[in-house]
Amino acid sequence: MNVPDSDSEDELPPGWEERVTMDGSVFYANHLTKLTQWTHPRTGKKKLVSGELPYGWERCVDKNTGKVIYVDHDNKRTTYTDPRLAFAVEEKDHANDYRQRFDASSTALQVLHGRDLTNKVALITGANSGIGFETARALAKHGCTVIFACRNMLSAQECVYKIVAEKGSARCEIVHLDLKSLESVKECVKDVKNNFKKIDMVILNAGVCGIPYSKTGDGFETTFQVNYLGHFYLALLLRPLVPVGGRFVVVSSESHRFADLTTETISPGTLSVESKNYWGMLVYNNSKLCNVLFARLFAKKLQDSGISVFSLHPGNMVYSKLCNSWWFYKLIFYISRPFTKSLLQAASTSVFCATAQELNGTTGVYFNNCYRCQESSAAQDDELAENLWDISCDMVRQVLGPDAEALSTPESPL
Ligand SMILES: NC(=O)c1ccc[n+]([C@@H]2O[C@H](COP(=O)([O-])OP(=O)(O)OC[C@H]3O[C@@H](n4cnc5c(N)ncnc54)[C@H](OP(=O)(O)O)[C@@H]3O)[C@@H](O)[C@H]2O)c1
Repeated sequence: MNVPDSDSEDELPPGWEERVTMDGSVFYANHLTKLTQWTHPRTGKKKLVSGELPYGWERCVDKNTGKVIYVDHDNKRTTYTDPRLAFAVEEKDHANDYRQRFDASSTALQVLHGRDLTNKVALITGANSGIGFETARALAKHGCTVIFACRNMLSAQECVYKIVAEKGSARCEIVHLDLKSLESVKECVKDVKNNFKKIDMVILNAGVCGIPYSKTGDGFETTFQVNYLGHFYLALLLRPLVPVGGRFVVVSSESHRFADLTTETISPGTLSVESKNYWGMLVYNNSKLCNVLFARLFAKKLQDSGISVFSLHPGNMVYSKLCNSWWFYKLIFYISRPFTKSLLQAASTSVFCATAQELNGTTGVYFNNCYRCQESSAAQDDELAENLWDISCDMVRQVLGPDAEALSTPESPL
């Protein structure tokens, strides 16, 4: 019987070696036959590595032998093996074809292992707390410049100090953003434009859940505006700053499955409800459905731009400030805490959607546990998404005037 030498499909048979060309294509050398080939001798798949070496590594030429060597300056070692081989990814047969590398227990730092995000810029809303903070910390630790878009500047500053204390070279900036105000969203983008030429990753993370009924200064129900409408307009305004290959990541929730919006019921009044119709949890679920509907339609609208849009669920009942709105939520989140994801685990899917190379060329997908997942049928309803988009544009115009920037019009559909 032919017993495989290894139970790992990816392990090379004896006598084979994996190498990489300057442009990142992986090839396989057989030491016995002295032949090389592009496909993995076991899986038959081709692999590629990204253009960047891991943080602290440099490619040099050995003066004595003339051979290319790789120098790890941090650990003072040299090797002939390209370190990027450890993170090679299989070439895809189609855009959505990739293996699951992570699961519910993976952390944001595991997702980023070996990645150098120097020269990348990420903007994260609500980065001063919970999942947003862990997302910011993981990205900053890997060299990414992180813009904290927060309403509480003092808390954001304390978070930046924490990150810089852990990694002195971390680059973090703070901009003021109160999602309860569309004027504040506009001001925030003005600030960002004054200081940054591009934003590679926009992570729409801030949120509130189960809060007592209130209306924002703009006249909308607060959960709806903070979780959805403010982010909708922020994304449209930031879009010109996002380069080809850039990504929008919308933090939604599995609770979008328990929303009650339909094409028959959607209207300004069912999105931004009055106090007599208010049930905090349902309004939250609806706002999270709006997040997924927006992400899918935005992805379609940006299809030819090379920009990807993803939405995601970070984890169930992850203990954060989100449950502070009511003592009962706090109690059940607290009791569940030993069985739910840590904040660093909850940040993994945001970080995966923002950075994973296997997602290049993919867009409009919803993720859970760092893997694609089917949204609810309502979230896949294109007509509902179009209705939501039109109502959202009207709501922004209602506050900022008919000529509000960045909205789609029949003459210039976004
Ligand atoms: N925790 C979970 O179990 C869970 C599950 C599914 C989805 N999610 C989603 O994950 C995201 C992050 O939640 P989290 O658990 O990390 O909660 P969190 O710790 O409460 O963080 C929420 C963040 O949103 C910010 N925020 C709230 N209102 C804002 C406003 N008007 N303008 C700007 N920022 C505002 C908060 O800022 P302040 O510090 O100023 O309040 C905070 O930074 C949310 O979208 C949430 O819906 C969480």
